[in-house]
Amino acid sequence: MPGIVIVGVQWGDEGKGKATDLLGERTDWVVKFNGGNNAGHTVVVGDEKYALHLLPSGILSSGVNAVIGNGVVVDLEVLFAELEALQARGVDTSRLRVSANAHVITHYHRTLDKVTERFLGKRQIGTTGRGIGPAYADKINRVGIRVQDLFDENILRQKVEGALDQKNHLLLKVYNRRAITCDEIVDDLLSYADRVRPLVADTSLLLNDALDAGEVVVFEGGQATMLDVDHGTYPFVTSSAATAGGAATGSGVGPNRLDRIVGIVKAYTTRVGSGPFPTELFDESGEWLRSRGFEFGTTTGRPRRVGWYDAPMARYATRINGLTDLVLTKLDILTGLERIPVCVAYDVDGERFDEMPVSQSDFHHATPIYEYLPGWTQDITGARTFDDLPVEAREYVLALEAMSGTHISVIGVGAERDAVVVRRDLV
Ligand code: IMP
Repeated sequence: MPGIVIVGVQWGDEGKGKATDLLGERTDWVVKFNGGNNAGHTVVVGDEKYALHLLPSGILSSGVNAVIGNGVVVDLEVLFAELEALQARGVDTSRLRVSANAHVITHYHRTLDKVTERFLGKRQIGTTGRGIGPAYADKINRVGIRVQDLFDENILRQKVEGALDQKNHLLLKVYNRRAITCDEIVDDLLSYADRVRPLVADTSLLLNDALDAGEVVVFEGGQATMLDVDHGTYPFVTSSAATAGGAATGSGVGPNRLDRIVGIVKAYTTRVGSGPFPTELFDESGEWLRSRGFEFGTTTGRPRRVGWYDAPMARYATRINGLTDLVLTKLDILTGLERIPVCVAYDVDGERFDEMPVSQSDFHHATPIYEYLPGWTQDITGARTFDDLPVEAREYVLALEAMSGTHISVIGVGAERDAVVVRRDLV
């Protein structure tokens, strides 16, 4: 079963590293298919700690081919800064390939991201400010710049001029900013052309050939289901397809090549940025979860919003992604609670919803209906089999599994790489 998709179930930061680590040596290819440097993951290899934003985590494993797919938006400055930082630490980055069709993030995308957020005021999305939304907007609006455009200066100039036509009106007249010249953008992009050229490939062809040869290809989703532009809590979402379908469109393989769809879900819930969050905690239990779980953003350092496990949301993610497995992370953070609240349904103005409400207004008004499961006090970080867990922890996992609608195959019980209980192999 060579095509494995890994997606977040909630609002991101579920700890996908646990799953990629487990696949480890079995992995031949790691593909990033959506998003850009809005993501952030810390990867620990031996005694070394690496913070990556744009590059797929596979870049750190020798022998693994890393791909930035067509569905990604690439900030070239960040790409080369990350590559150089890794090379300086002796990491071999020669196996990275970048799709010729990936779009690039330019200076005007970053500027627009920041000024639009400021102008939205109270209605702001809370973006990472990396230019992600404006770059995807240009792609859909057919005024985007693709990696391959860097190799034809005439075409590049025409496209940048076209894109700036509209944007300079906006920047000058609406946002009261200075206009951006075509030359500064073209010069900046061309300065990367020679370095990016050797990385560029027909990544769709490479991946399909690899799958034909029976190699293991891991499609690593950035952000998560509830941040997906179609299926998430729109408009408080990112601008890409962060769900399993995005793995196909964002990398150029057919959906029938995706054999396992693995959802990563935290044993509680977190969110960065604005938007509805029914189980959010504002009391001392929220503080307790945040500090025990080290819930601060990798990319922005922002404290994350925290809340209890939301079962209708997990069930929704199972349906939207076709999840075959769940990896339940950070179970150890819940140790010490006398009883653990789990949201089993929502109350919306007196009406009970067992599934995620279709209407955004309903979801904004949803309050959680909790069931309380018995907690445990024993340290579980040393557990390596399901039977090592205290009975209450096992029952918590089994209850979540029944409510979430798919198999909980792996349970994360600690920060260490090997702190996992595997109930069913992912490959
Ligand atoms: P953008 O992706 O920068 O446009 O931000 C849109 C929303 O997605 C904001 O609420 C961000 O906080 C959120 N977001 C983007 N990337 C991540 C991530 O990797 N983890 C968690 N939230 C994210």
